[in-house]
Amino acid sequence: MRQSIVAGNWKMNGASSFVQEMAQQINLHAADLDNVEVVLSPPSVYVAMLQQSAKSYATAAQNVHFAKSGAYTGEVSVTMLQDVGCKYVLIGHSERREIFAESNQLIAKKVAAAMQGGVVPILCVGESLLQRNAGQEFEVVKSQVLSALQGLQFSADSLVIAYEPIWAIGTGETASPEQAQQMHAHIRKVLAVEISAELAEQTRILYGGSVNAQTAALLFSQPDIDGGLVGGASLKVEDFKLICSAAAK
Ligand code: 13P
Repeated sequence: MRQSIVAGNWKMNGASSFVQEMAQQINLHAADLDNVEVVLSPPSVYVAMLQQSAKSYATAAQNVHFAKSGAYTGEVSVTMLQDVGCKYVLIGHSERREIFAESNQLIAKKVAAAMQGGVVPILCVGESLLQRNAGQEFEVVKSQVLSALQGLQFSADSLVIAYEPIWAIGTGETASPEQAQQMHAHIRKVLAVEISAELAEQTRILYGGSVNAQTAALLFSQPDIDGGLVGGASLKVEDFKLICSAAAK
């Protein structure tokens, strides 16, 4: 059975006081959850601090550069994330694709660097509303997944995929459990056909996009949904705890 993951993406929110509060609360809460890995993804300046307090959660960075070191002002490398004990890194979030113009090619380089450096990429994919209305959602997501993984050798515990339809992010409009399940099954099939059936069966695929304490349980009960990548609701401690509990099997 695949272990669920609930990851809280704080985006550019939080402060050191919030880091301390979350660390304390989630250490207590996540310790009792069955078969759920809780992951907290703060802004990069707080990753080390949050990781130092971690007893029953893991941390994820929200971005990484593909180079090991060098003249890349403002960037953080995989080696540095590894050095502070960070286990995961979000790669290809739609906000990075849109606001920071990250291409599928750049995302592929980041995924390769993360895997090579021993930090697990949480590869984010998802279609826009325009693409969905044009009936292109399955094709778009397939090409995002395949372009990011092209030519890589890896095992299922070295990759997490997050399906985040752009129209559901921060809008309060969650994909229905059926819509999400359909896309997750599609992604799993793409992995099975293009890589291997075993890898497809074992890879965790998270849903993200307006997940909240009310919608989480039904989404997480779908056979191909292995947890969530949570934005806004991960900033509300009590709501986030309820979402983590909803993923427990
Ligand atoms: P919301 O949960 O705020 O819609 O954000 C989802 C997201 O982008 C997580 O990465």
